[in-house]
Amino acid sequence: MHIHKYEKIWLLFGIASLLVFTVTIGVSAFYMGNQPPSCLVTVDPAKVYETEPFNQPGLKQVGDKDYELVVVASAFNYDVGPEKVIQIPVGSTVNFIGTTTDVIHGFEVAGTNANMMLEPGYINTVKTTFNKPGKYTIVCNEYCGLGHHLMFATVEVVE
Ligand code: CUA
Repeated sequence: MHIHKYEKIWLLFGIASLLVFTVTIGVSAFYMGNQPPSCLVTVDPAKVYETEPFNQPGLKQVGDKDYELVVVASAFNYDVGPEKVIQIPVGSTVNFIGTTTDVIHGFEVAGTNANMMLEPGYINTVKTTFNKPGKYTIVCNEYCGLGHHLMFATVEVVE
């Protein structure tokens, strides 16, 4: 089969544009620490507290300055374990793993890039590194009812 010279050029041009777009989207999606929503893992919202890791909400050290915080949101509370204030050393990376037992809640660690939605039936995660000491408030940024403004927890980053 004979392919015309111009047809070949346009075909190559098309493939090249596609590659440029794919790379641009692929790179920009993660630019400046952005993370596309992860919520691909599901959980039965009625059995959150019987399902790992949500049967033990709270902070877990998984490496040197590497932590996991398991969060169960519900109207109108963040269950982050027995302590309402989570303490970690400066420079720590925390992988927040969250879900909700009832309605959609927001999950934003104010002053960081950690921001996700917690949807019933789904497990969502977001990771961030705390390079400055101080108190970071976890707030609900998704209106969820009368006690919406009462939902919070605190991450305290210490030297
Ligand atoms: Cu939970 Cu607003």
